Amino acid sequence: MIAIEAGQLRPGRVLSKGLYTRDGRKLLGPGAVLTEEVCRAVGAGGKDLLYLASSAGEVSSHFRQRSGERARQPTGRAAPAPGAVPRARDEDPCELPGLSSEAISEARRWARGRSDELIRSGASRWLRPDARPPLTPARPRAVWREGVGWFDADELRAFFAERAGMVRGWLTRVVSRAGEAGGDGLTIEEPLEWVIELGRLAGRYPRRCAQLALAVERTEDDPAEQMYAACVLGVLMACRAGWPASLVSEAGLASLLCDAGMVLVPRALRRLRRSLDDTEINGVRRHPSWSLALASTLAGVPDGVLAGVLQHHERLDGSGYPLGLRGAAVHDLARLAGVANDYAASVSPRAYKPRARAFTALGGLIGLGAAKKIDRRAVALLADAVGLFPVGSRVRLSSGVPASVVGSTPGRPDRPLVRVMMEGEDGTERFRTGGGLIDLADPSRAGLRVEKPVEDG
Ligand SMILES: [Fe+2]
Repeated sequence: MIAIEAGQLRPGRVLSKGLYTRDGRKLLGPGAVLTEEVCRAVGAGGKDLLYLASSAGEVSSHFRQRSGERARQPTGRAAPAPGAVPRARDEDPCELPGLSSEAISEARRWARGRSDELIRSGASRWLRPDARPPLTPARPRAVWREGVGWFDADELRAFFAERAGMVRGWLTRVVSRAGEAGGDGLTIEEPLEWVIELGRLAGRYPRRCAQLALAVERTEDDPAEQMYAACVLGVLMACRAGWPASLVSEAGLASLLCDAGMVLVPRALRRLRRSLDDTEINGVRRHPSWSLALASTLAGVPDGVLAGVLQHHERLDGSGYPLGLRGAAVHDLARLAGVANDYAASVSPRAYKPRARAFTALGGLIGLGAAKKIDRRAVALLADAVGLFPVGSRVRLSSGVPASVVGSTPGRPDRPLVRVMMEGEDGTERFRTGGGLIDLADPSRAGLRVEKPVEDG
């Protein structure tokens, strides 16, 4: 089954399968030729998703299965009741639910062979120069309007936990299928839905959308959370570059999938609380190849996404891995996904490294860009997407008031949207109740600026 946006149907296309709505209503049969009239009628749904499937039963059983999986997943939970205190997770967040260590070992063995074969047969095809739009920030609009109804803190936490839970469940199916049946049989459709959803959110809430990656509490060493957070940033960066929807989707998919292979890296190795020796480093450095193997099992995955996944730790000076590619050989999607993935990882808690401050992590990437190790245009896109004083961090304003960064305005990375904080009675800083939002990109606030970052929220 394949999901497609109603507005993307074009005249002349011959449907290979029937076209259905999410509730299983049949719109067109297999073999139907799309005319302008039909596209107009069906396309009125705009960004609503429709499904190419063999039968209505396939659509309904797909959603029944997914809702059952969500209900069983420990972190795929509904939004908490207002005022509810989030419970600590009592499950191990790193284990893929229901998969034994033997199943992981089996999948690892399979991934080794599959990735070697793919790199041998596909690497030259992926190294072709690509005719995609440049990795530069698009000219910002003069006025940015945000939609109404953005998440509050509880909703944000619940949304992130639910999406990470969906990624975890899906990854479990991909890995178990890889180990048992040699992969294949799954499609790119489900992750594509998450990416399309993020593209919509980024379009509607261009300034605040980065909160979905940066203003949520992250769990140490949780591959599913890392994949979703990187995906949020990858989608935002591609949107800031002004890429068309199809390429935004590719950027989101590459950012989502590039660390999928980390679940095949032995967990004991991922959780070592010391610097790794050379052998251990080599073990971790297999993960882009294993991500490639897992991604390659998904029917419909574009070649560019596979290149982005495999090459996301390559460096422009040849010092990266796994292939040691240089300069133009590194695909644009890999440059973008690598920056999104690096940033999402460095601001989250890790066993072997303390969590970096948001401002410091961005500075590190700017330094790597200046040293021509990574693409400075991709770093500029990240800075535009999250702000030079990144979303989720804390700053002191030139008025002396502390504030929390809640948004970044396109084209104005040094003029964030902030929420003012004030001293609590116990001497701690807390959010001022009843508002306190200041848009530093507003010309009427020209006299006010961020003086310095103070700490991360
Ligand atoms: Fe990675």
